[in-house]
Amino acid sequence: MKRLLALMIFAATISVPVVMASPATDSLLAKYKSEGVSKIDASKAKSDWTKETKGEDGEMISCSTCHGTDFSKAGKHRKTHKVIDPLSTRVNTERFTDEKKIEKWFKRNCNDTWGRECTAQEKADFLTFLLAQ
Ligand code: HEC
Repeated sequence: MKRLLALMIFAATISVPVVMASPATDSLLAKYKSEGVSKIDASKAKSDWTKETKGEDGEMISCSTCHGTDFSKAGKHRKTHKVIDPLSTRVNTERFTDEKKIEKWFKRNCNDTWGRECTAQEKADFLTFLLAQ
């Protein structure tokens, strides 16, 4: 009976969608929490992802302009047209494994897209949302 129970628990765990956290994302999320984030809202990140604002050149841009909305597919840089590897950790195991890289691109991309840095709250929301893709 005990064995059956263990098996059932095991089966339940593997059928639940896995959030692909890494030591880098655990550490970043802890940092954002220490900066005042208490409640993460991945659905806000979902709508922020496609929220368009006017870029430097007057064109409307959002995160999805370069990364798309299908995270298992490659994106394309809107200016250089360079291919951007998929953001989904399910198809790209190198994603979100380097704390410095994540922070560097949050900084650059938020500035490019919204003309300002993202707050700790926005980054925590984005990261949680992206890890679930
Ligand atoms: C102008 C094109 C462009 C836009 C717009 C853009 N990104 Fe990016 N993003 C890139 C490029 C280029 C990279 C670095 C190349 C790579 O990681 O494949 C990148 C990388 C990232 C990474 C790093 C992923 C990792 O593996 O560490 C994150 C996180 C990210 N972007 C989030 C965002 C968010 C959030 C927005 C919207 C606020 C956004 N991006 C908008 C082009 C863009």
